[in-house]
Amino acid sequence: MTMTGFRLDGGNQSLVFVTPPTGAPRLGYWGPDLGELDLVDQVMALLPRALPGGMLDQGEALSWLPEPGQGFTGYPGLAGHRNGQTLISQLALVSAEAGRVVLQDDLAAIRLEIVLAVDPATGVLSSRTRLTNLDPVPLTLDWLAAGAFESPHAQMLMFDGRWTREFIPVRQTLTTGLLMKENRTGHTSHHAPPFMVAGEPGFGEQMGEVYGLHLAWSGDHRMFAERLRDGRIQIQAGELLHPGEVILARGETYDSPTLYLARSETGLNGLSDRLHPFVRDQIMAGRLRGSPRPVNYNTWEAVYFGHDPATLMGLADLAAEVGAERYVLDDGWFRGRPNDRSGLGDWSVDATKYPQGLKPLIDHVRSLGMAFGLWVEPEMANADSDLLRAHPDWILGIPGRIQPLGRGQYVLDLTRPEVFDNIRGQIEALLSEYEISYLKWDMNRDLTHALSAGRSAAHSQTLAVYRLMDGLKARYPNLEIESCSSGGGRADYEILKRTDRIWVSDCNDPVERQAIQRSFSIFFPPEVMGSHIGPAAAHTTARTASLAMRGLTALFGHMGMEADLRAFTPEERQQLSALIALHKVHRDLLHGGRLARLIHPDPSCLAFMVSNNTGALVSAAQVETPATSVLAHLRVPGLAPDAQYDVRMISKAPRSARWIPPLLKGQALRLSGAALGAAGLPLPVLRAGEAVVFELTRVIP
Ligand code: GLA
Repeated sequence: MTMTGFRLDGGNQSLVFVTPPTGAPRLGYWGPDLGELDLVDQVMALLPRALPGGMLDQGEALSWLPEPGQGFTGYPGLAGHRNGQTLISQLALVSAEAGRVVLQDDLAAIRLEIVLAVDPATGVLSSRTRLTNLDPVPLTLDWLAAGAFESPHAQMLMFDGRWTREFIPVRQTLTTGLLMKENRTGHTSHHAPPFMVAGEPGFGEQMGEVYGLHLAWSGDHRMFAERLRDGRIQIQAGELLHPGEVILARGETYDSPTLYLARSETGLNGLSDRLHPFVRDQIMAGRLRGSPRPVNYNTWEAVYFGHDPATLMGLADLAAEVGAERYVLDDGWFRGRPNDRSGLGDWSVDATKYPQGLKPLIDHVRSLGMAFGLWVEPEMANADSDLLRAHPDWILGIPGRIQPLGRGQYVLDLTRPEVFDNIRGQIEALLSEYEISYLKWDMNRDLTHALSAGRSAAHSQTLAVYRLMDGLKARYPNLEIESCSSGGGRADYEILKRTDRIWVSDCNDPVERQAIQRSFSIFFPPEVMGSHIGPAAAHTTARTASLAMRGLTALFGHMGMEADLRAFTPEERQQLSALIALHKVHRDLLHGGRLARLIHPDPSCLAFMVSNNTGALVSAAQVETPATSVLAHLRVPGLAPDAQYDVRMISKAPRSARWIPPLLKGQALRLSGAALGAAGLPLPVLRAGEAVVFELTRVIP
């Protein structure tokens, strides 16, 4: 058997794939950069495994796309049929050039391409697959993985979640069988976001070898880890295809979403060190670099559906006064929208609420030096809308089946050109008529009955949403889009290719937010993370938080406010201004630096640092009552060990009477990176719901 292989390098790492004559490539090495070392022969020599009794004579090849037709009995990488005749594939290598591997099976009449690439700067691996039907009989595709990664580790970190509590980390050790997350909601989902980490036992924020995986897809997906009976572990991810959803005629192809993978030897922080720059420069093509994220003011929690121009202009005055740079008019501005039961689909301004249209408000906002943004939910319509009264059949579904409502609304069938064109036309009319440079693009219900013309259509609906956004972005190059789906239900790298901010959660309670943002930050850099200062009493929890806690939490993302500023006292508005000013002073650091989650021995103290070569900001937030009366020092590793830093506490003075005197007096304490890493920062007494932020200014060298 002759085998060759190829190597991909990037981010001081190398990957060696071998390409057997039959079956997909196999990843034989992923580790430190191999330099001059050629490992292909050795990797090949190491592939054969001992063969126990009770298994097939040839063993089971766990390739990048394992095939039952090659004798693989675990979860297959590919499944499909032709009129009920199961596909038994035995793919053979055609070519492998620069990460593009072509395989073909003449008998099964399919061609498979696997496209593997490593980002030179960060070492992030991307993998996608493309299947072509070569037979006149149509091929029904049931599953095509974007790749199958053989994980050396069984300890898994996956994410659960729900509305107002996104990105809940769940750790578990894979024993036998499958640990699977499926999503059938038609958006990236709250409950099964397509992110997974596999790491060595005990891996943490700053230690352990870990592999992070993310399927970049905003529709239905399946992601799983499987321990095979011989002990090996595979992780696969791909689009969840509904019965009959993808049927390929001769010559037609199906493209999987892209699976992104990163490897770190320094725990989850090491993953973020690779993924954050990758998102900044590759996923977002550097478009936020050099574009300071404007501080948003969002009207939702201030007025909900109760719009009147005078109030909204008054709020704009107050927002501008405290430092907002963009004003986002949330839900409630359009025709027939007194509440969330009607109006979606009719994207023209409500003439009763805005007798002169939006122009006076927009002019006013712009005269205050703020950009103007508008909330829309283009994929949806209420039955009580002119759109659905005229075209009741424009929703996804099938005649004769009653579709359950979600938030009183239906999903439009954007796969139909006339529906797509109508919605695009309505949004373009708004963007052409008004000075709108930002859309908060919402999506507030799960897809059920995702059928179009009798066929499953979640796949083509997802592509239609991308097309709609891409078309608007192309026509209005300065338009920014925020991705929102009842909070953080649409957070993935594919949506981020065409959006500029993710509304991570409808929960503005800073205690919850500290946890949500912490998990979110593993895969996403802070500048895309929408984070708002809400009212004192959070609308989504029964908790009240100080302005300091709310502000110091929002400070570390793409900052904004979402509260009725009329309810703030003049002193509170001054405090708000100071918090926003603080954000602006540190915006370059916050949105371009390195974010590292820190570990405090008390797990109720959530701490992290954002640093660059001029210094750092360190935040420690107490989300519950501390376990002990005094908090241990917070170790801050990762700074230049021999550099000196002037450390100042920039949040409000702590309660502690006796503490480090200079810090207590607001003066600087000079400490080396080595001391900060080993001895750590002294923390004041923090009660539940309090936070402290330190500024570290690098002074020497
Ligand atoms: C969703 C969003 C909120 C807000 C409302 C408006 O719930 O997540 O931020 O925009 O819709 O109806």
